[in-house]
Amino acid sequence: MPTSAKDTNLSTAAVIPAAGRGVRLGPGAPKALRTLGGIPILVHAVRAMTHARAVSLVVVVAPPDGVAEVSALLDSHGLPEAKDIKIVAGGETRQESVRLGLAALPDGIDVVLVHDAARPLVPVEMVEAVAAAVRDGAPAVVPGLPLADTVKEIDPATDAVVGTPERALLRAVQTPQGFDRATLVKAHATITSDVTDDAGMVEQLGIQVLVVPGHEEAFKVTRPLDLVLAEAVLARRRAADVF
Ligand code: CTP
Ligand code: MG
Repeated sequence: MPTSAKDTNLSTAAVIPAAGRGVRLGPGAPKALRTLGGIPILVHAVRAMTHARAVSLVVVVAPPDGVAEVSALLDSHGLPEAKDIKIVAGGETRQESVRLGLAALPDGIDVVLVHDAARPLVPVEMVEAVAAAVRDGAPAVVPGLPLADTVKEIDPATDAVVGTPERALLRAVQTPQGFDRATLVKAHATITSDVTDDAGMVEQLGIQVLVVPGHEEAFKVTRPLDLVLAEAVLARRRAADVF
């Protein structure tokens, strides 16, 4: 059923792709299972989703050989009883993992948030804002931030600069990205080329994607320095007693 504008009775689920290995983070446990402030990155991400009032179900997409381990991990971290949590096995690429997560959604879910496990510190207000924009009628919503650096387009064969897009018109996009369920399912069924985010697939269908304000604490833990930053953000939150 298509999403109707301003429908406040829509049911929202979050799909959390967490099946990546985290190669850029260096050797060690899979990225989602590494800890920040003593708590696994995945648990931080799941909590951010369960704390959002709109979200009634969270589907965690685990490494294919890690479903039992992820299940035990989540059980041991006392998540809210009122929210349903499902764990499914992921795939070779993020895109495939998201598709497998979508396939596990029950009937009755109309709005889907797709959130990287690797963004453990996303503020719950941002999650609520993305969900609200979809519930207000936008088929696809991404949080985005202006860029600090100027971006160059290059010719990969020569490393020569071929262009400089106007920085003021660029946004670095984060997750959760929010979608009308039918729109996202259609995008995953139709688009087979490689993409790095879900909104990109919806764009390829010719459907408009809306940008809402992102948050600097929703950064993706990708490289070793990101772990240092994440620990610092957590320490600041704990000192301020906000989480
Ligand atoms: N992801 C996934 N399935 C994959 C690959 C990635 O579910 N086959 C998830 C990751 O677990 C992560 C999110 O997609 O939460 C964003 O991907 P990224 O930050 O690139 O994580 P990794 O792929 O794990 O890291 P790397 O690319 O450095 O290996
Ligand atoms: Mg990756």
